[in-house]
Amino acid sequence: MTEPQSGKVSEIILDTPPVNALGAGLRRHLLAAIEAADADPAVEAIVLRGAGSVFSAGADIAEFAADDMGEPWHPLVLDRIEACSKPVIAAITGVCLGGGLETALACHYRIADASARFALPEVTLGILPGAGGTQRLPRLMGAREALAMMTGGRMIDAGQALALGVVDEVVDGDVAAAARELAASAGRPPIRRTGALPVPADLAEAVAEARARLPVAALSTAPARIIDSVAAITPDFAAGCAVETALFSELRTTEAARALQHAFFGERKVSRIPGLARDVKARPVAKVGIVGGGLMGTGIAIALLNAGLSVIVVETRDDAREKSRETAAKAVERDAAKGRITQTVAESRIAALSMAAGLEALGDVDLVIEAVFEDLAAKEQVFTALDRIVRPDTILASNTSTLDLDAIAAFVADPSRVVGLHFFSPANIMRLLEVVRGAATGPDVLATAMAFAKRVGKVGVVSGVCDGFIGNRMFEEYLRQAYFLLEEGALPQGVDRAMERWGMAMGPLRVLDLAGQDIGWAIRKRRAVEQPDRPYSGIPDRVCELGRFGQKVGRGIYQYPDGRTAVADPLIDDLIVAYSQEIGVERRLIEDAEIVDRCLLALINEGARIVGEGIAYRPVDVDMIYLNGYGFARERGGPMFQADEIGLATVLEKIRALAAGRNGWAWEPAPLLVELAAQGKRFADPNV
Ligand code: CAA
Repeated sequence: MTEPQSGKVSEIILDTPPVNALGAGLRRHLLAAIEAADADPAVEAIVLRGAGSVFSAGADIAEFAADDMGEPWHPLVLDRIEACSKPVIAAITGVCLGGGLETALACHYRIADASARFALPEVTLGILPGAGGTQRLPRLMGAREALAMMTGGRMIDAGQALALGVVDEVVDGDVAAAARELAASAGRPPIRRTGALPVPADLAEAVAEARARLPVAALSTAPARIIDSVAAITPDFAAGCAVETALFSELRTTEAARALQHAFFGERKVSRIPGLARDVKARPVAKVGIVGGGLMGTGIAIALLNAGLSVIVVETRDDAREKSRETAAKAVERDAAKGRITQTVAESRIAALSMAAGLEALGDVDLVIEAVFEDLAAKEQVFTALDRIVRPDTILASNTSTLDLDAIAAFVADPSRVVGLHFFSPANIMRLLEVVRGAATGPDVLATAMAFAKRVGKVGVVSGVCDGFIGNRMFEEYLRQAYFLLEEGALPQGVDRAMERWGMAMGPLRVLDLAGQDIGWAIRKRRAVEQPDRPYSGIPDRVCELGRFGQKVGRGIYQYPDGRTAVADPLIDDLIVAYSQEIGVERRLIEDAEIVDRCLLALINEGARIVGEGIAYRPVDVDMIYLNGYGFARERGGPMFQADEIGLATVLEKIRALAAGRNGWAWEPAPLLVELAAQGKRFADPNV
């Protein structure tokens, strides 16, 4: 951090790998360095840059959870930079985010190279830019653009930053050298303090527009507070900053902020595989075969093409093969038409896709993903054939969501090469990838699967083998409660509305209509044989007996007059009421709070069982599955995060109360929950 002097230029380097996060230590150094340079009569100008390939990813997010965020307070450091009596030039390469961008905004001049990327993504963490960002950025780029950038967490590139006035210059080549040269020259930029710039002319109008766009109900108040903070801009910069600081402190401790920060770290934590030896290396994956060109196989192909991989889709039926190719090509072309990618990139992606009628085409791929019909005999055929055809080092993955991965692995001579890659539909959109670790899956195969997940932009979470893996196994208990609520007095629209208001993207009954009621019916029939002591409500079966298989046929628990919008159906309400009567249940008024409690507690209890059994490595893995695959609001953090919010002793108490009630057999508390509650612990404790 002691900066090399180059002539009369002092260079201050942000150097806390990997992303130069501005933790208390770095802020202390920064303050000391700027004061020293300002006081040194030999120094005429200062260059501030990041070490390595980034400027700074902003504040150290881990500090937000601490009671004391450490001294010195970031805004204070930035005010000192801005007040410096010598020109301070920020030389920006790579990411310049959050407090990193706020630091650059406090400098007097900003030069970037083409790799620079700028954002104030605090809103995604449930907070606001608390180091002067809401006061300085609008002064530079106008309130409308700044509000859009801050409330959306939008990232802009060097060209856009130049056009919008965020940076003063974009250079080719070594930006630090360019900044040093400029600082040393007679034509060095004058001191221009962003905080002293006039109030943006569009302030009042932009604030009113942004307020009008706010959703009526939102789980995070961060967007609203960002607007409030911008609205506080006046010629008195310090007064605006005081409002910003107060709003930042208010947001920092909200449930949404804690949940969103849990999600940020959780998505990174799940990629760490406990017990995996350090020397285990992922195998390179460039060419992937997909067996089955149905909806799922095609979705997977699109996701892989978008990640720049080379893909061969094997589909035996000519018409399905052609349809798969067309769908994939159209998806890529749509991205080009919308300007998300260039025409050249689109062409190279389409060229990276080939289609084949037989498995023989997969002789030279690095990974095969099987996505054929969910039937063990069909899987056997595919895997025994693949065993003959592919290279010995090719990894064989199954996309099964319901079958025993170990049974599938037994179809090949070396089961260590088999892993589960459970994509969620539509596979090119959903971020979750459950990576299923079979009993024999090799450590490097697992590591490859996780690296592959990251490569294709997914959040990979490891699950052990069990029926339904992590996500669907929990979902089954959640649905069980949703159905019981119907027979006790709730109606579908009431259950869904309560869960959606609370934070699920879609209520449980609408999800079932979307997934297809026939799929749930098949599972329930299987369960009736496997688990006769764990009966379901008969209501969804009655719905299926009417041929109402969900949205795809225009009718399920709801009706879909326009093919998409779920509309309550009096016929189903009558069916439910009649069913309650038939089984002798006196219907009662069920409040939203009870609906949410029962559905959420079912997820928590099964999640705890899954962690206790070692199917999930950690509670956070369960949470990341729910956030990325099941529409659980990020601002709610996931079921296990919620359990900690409620307190495990209270969770257990509620579960025990339910166990004493109707269908109490479904509420046997998970052993891990009992154990942790007794020890006064939380799921977030590191040793859980
Ligand atoms: N604070 C603490 N740790 C951070 C961090 C931050 N701001 N940004 C990244 N990290 C950590 C990650 O947790 C990860 O750690 P592990 O290796 O231990 O898991 C490591 O740095 C590398 O990060 P990624 O795995 O995400 O690497 P990537 O190359 O895929 O992405 C990135 C890099 C684009 C910077 C991405 O990490 C990112 O978006 N970071 C967060 C940026 C952000 O939100 N900044 C705003 C902070 S809030 C703020 O600044 C408030 C304020 O006003 C003062």
